Amino acid sequence: MHSIIGSLPRIIENGIERAETIINSPEISMGRKEIVYPMGHGEADPDTKAWSNRLYRADNLMAIKDLLRRGYRGEIDLIYIDPPFLTKSRYRGRSRIKYGNDERNIEYLAYDDTWKGGLAAYLEMIYPRLYLMRELLSDRGSIYIHLDYRTVHYVKVLMDQVFGQNNFLNEIIWSYKSGGTSRRYFSRKHDNILVYSKTKDYIFNVQKEKSYNRGFRPYGFKGVKEYEDEMGWYTLVNMRDVWAVDMVGRTSGERVDYDTQKPENLLERIILSSSNEDSIVADFFAGSGTTGVMADKLNRRWILADNGALATVTTIKRLLENDVLPFSIIRSPDDLDMAGKLTIRDIKLITDEEGREGLEIELGDYHFNMDNMDIGGKNRKIIEEVATDEPLALIDFIGIDMDYDGGIPIINWQNYRRGDRIIIEPKINIFSGGFKGKDIYIRYMDIFGQENWMVHRI
Ligand SMILES: C[S@@+](CC[C@H](N)C(=O)[O-])C[C@H]1O[C@@H](n2cnc3c(N)ncnc32)[C@H](O)[C@@H]1O
Repeated sequence: MHSIIGSLPRIIENGIERAETIINSPEISMGRKEIVYPMGHGEADPDTKAWSNRLYRADNLMAIKDLLRRGYRGEIDLIYIDPPFLTKSRYRGRSRIKYGNDERNIEYLAYDDTWKGGLAAYLEMIYPRLYLMRELLSDRGSIYIHLDYRTVHYVKVLMDQVFGQNNFLNEIIWSYKSGGTSRRYFSRKHDNILVYSKTKDYIFNVQKEKSYNRGFRPYGFKGVKEYEDEMGWYTLVNMRDVWAVDMVGRTSGERVDYDTQKPENLLERIILSSSNEDSIVADFFAGSGTTGVMADKLNRRWILADNGALATVTTIKRLLENDVLPFSIIRSPDDLDMAGKLTIRDIKLITDEEGREGLEIELGDYHFNMDNMDIGGKNRKIIEEVATDEPLALIDFIGIDMDYDGGIPIINWQNYRRGDRIIIEPKINIFSGGFKGKDIYIRYMDIFGQENWMVHRI
């Protein structure tokens, strides 16, 4: 059987060349940029915030290139990545939609973790990205790479080459309970997270964890502080490299129904350990946005990138649900490939009982082309049925710039489906006054992450 070892020099050589070309290539153009002001944050005033958090809907190579161009070299204190694992699986997201008196569950492809060229193709993908991420890290920075038994040992070899064996800090074992066992080997119930720093002067804030006493009884040693909980007596020790953290279970409150979603608690440990308040934390394989949500909660700035449509819409909704600070969405230029089209039946000025001027937008229809979409079998039938009977039920997110000046849109009104709120009303009422003669900018996304926008003069 062919060994990967012989291919490594070529993978590294080509990877360096590819990365260096990106570093030295001229400005790239990204697609339409928007700023989102979650509604909880009051009036939009983009000028007062010189820095805003960023979500790239783009291949991470493009995102990194854009960041390098914008002066982020050496600016990021922490990178966490959870790339595909070479599992040969196709991962999905699920949405529950309501239409008429019916409810339907719809599954849609999130990303495909099958690699035609196998391990070599996978390593070819990851190497230039690791190389470029090192460029973005600050001198106090570190990087966490989340993998499993399939690729961790090979990526370790690449990481030693990029970051230096001396900068290898830990292999964290994340152990969990999940379904699935084998009769032919031990149940595989852990992931591996490799940790490297860029220099020897890296941020590391020691975290503590419980260590239960033998027999759960107090030792009573002099000078050792002991505590008691429902299990028994324990001391606090510096956190070890084996972490027992629950997976995001079916009934978990943080679940957003995106396969491969990682627990917030796992990211909390990583962010607290290896960044400080105001540090920039980045995740270039962001999935459902766990890193962004936790970074925001812990007062860090954040950068996320994912090239998946479903990942982006899931992340945007999750960020809004968590009432994060304002953020930009930056898209790759080809992002409208699969766009659907929403029509508006009527827009009119209205006044409420208190005499406030407002706007009523009545949505009309939603059309999209299923030909290029990866939907089969039962799901296709359900989607066809909903698309014919009540297409608006497929809209997942609507964001509006209520005073669009023709520049970068500032989405300061949003409505989206999440949890129990599984419908978007076809009639939208906004009361913020002074719409007459203004342009409004409307961004919309469907449950598959297909998106589009329009401008309307009032
Ligand atoms: C394992 S998932 C990440 C899950 C994430 N940690 C979470 O908590 O939801 C990997 C993600 O990487 C994204 N991805 C794969 N290749 C990419 C690329 N070249 N650029 C950007 N994103 C990519 C996929 O779309 C997928 O969402």
